[in-house]
Amino acid sequence: MAGVSPSQQSWWPEAASSWSAAERELLARLRPDRLPAHVAVIMDGNGRWARQRGLLDRIRGHEAGIDSVREITTSAAQLRLRALTLYAFSKENWRRPAREINALMALLTRFLVAERPELMGNNIRLQTIGVPADLPADARAALDETRRLTAGNSGLILNLALSYGGRDEIVRAAAALARAARDGRLDPDRIGEAEFAAALDTAGLPEPDLLVRTSGENRVSNFLLWQIAYAEIYVTPVLWPDFRRAQLLEALIDYQRRERRYGMVAEPAH
Ligand code: IPE
Ligand code: IPE
Ligand code: MG
Repeated sequence: MAGVSPSQQSWWPEAASSWSAAERELLARLRPDRLPAHVAVIMDGNGRWARQRGLLDRIRGHEAGIDSVREITTSAAQLRLRALTLYAFSKENWRRPAREINALMALLTRFLVAERPELMGNNIRLQTIGVPADLPADARAALDETRRLTAGNSGLILNLALSYGGRDEIVRAAAALARAARDGRLDPDRIGEAEFAAALDTAGLPEPDLLVRTSGENRVSNFLLWQIAYAEIYVTPVLWPDFRRAQLLEALIDYQRRERRYGMVAEPAH
């Protein structure tokens, strides 16, 4: 509607023409040259979302959270971000009740199959970090097939953290480097930060510029411990199933207000 939503700007995704007026207002506040390359998200609050709605089963919250995963992934691709890492299941989450774990694995499997057209249509490549070998066979099979199918896509990398723990990843990287040194394939004196980063699950990805945590908890919960060294952290009280395109745009606007210094000073020193 003229006068309500700002007119289309040249860098806007084509899809924005069908976004709501409020979403387009938010989009108009973004600077295309200062978008983060990599956004990482701790998707938290599904259980609380269900409880707040009087639903007795936490699993209803996980089901609702899938809609957020779809909308955030597609929006990130449309905004031409390079990578989106979603913390879907932690190493520690295996300690939840078996019924909840089974429901989460079933949801993951269903998502990986059902979303193939959406991933292909948006040129999204699926990758994973963590230990997918821990997952049940049907989830692993769906994962392998979706990864294979999307391997040639050149747009957003959707990086799912599955059976992921930051400490576990660091230990596995250290062990891999130690094995390489033992076998004479690597000189320990040549191990620097770049060599270490290349041994992590995230090898080849840019470091996250923005780390989002939903549902208001001010903690990292063993997520990307090495990689978030200089990430901007954005904690929102919004519960994951309520975190949609508008909330992503708000997080990106907040990110663009930050000044990243990387230990240096804002002005050149005299
Ligand atoms: C996040 O929601 C989803 C996963 C950890 C898989 P939670 O299930 O942790 O929801 P809360 O934190 O109990 O509300
Ligand atoms: C972090 O959420 C893990 C995922 C989002 C997969 P949790 O709900 O498991 O983390 P804590 O228990 O609040 O630290
Ligand atoms: Mg939680």
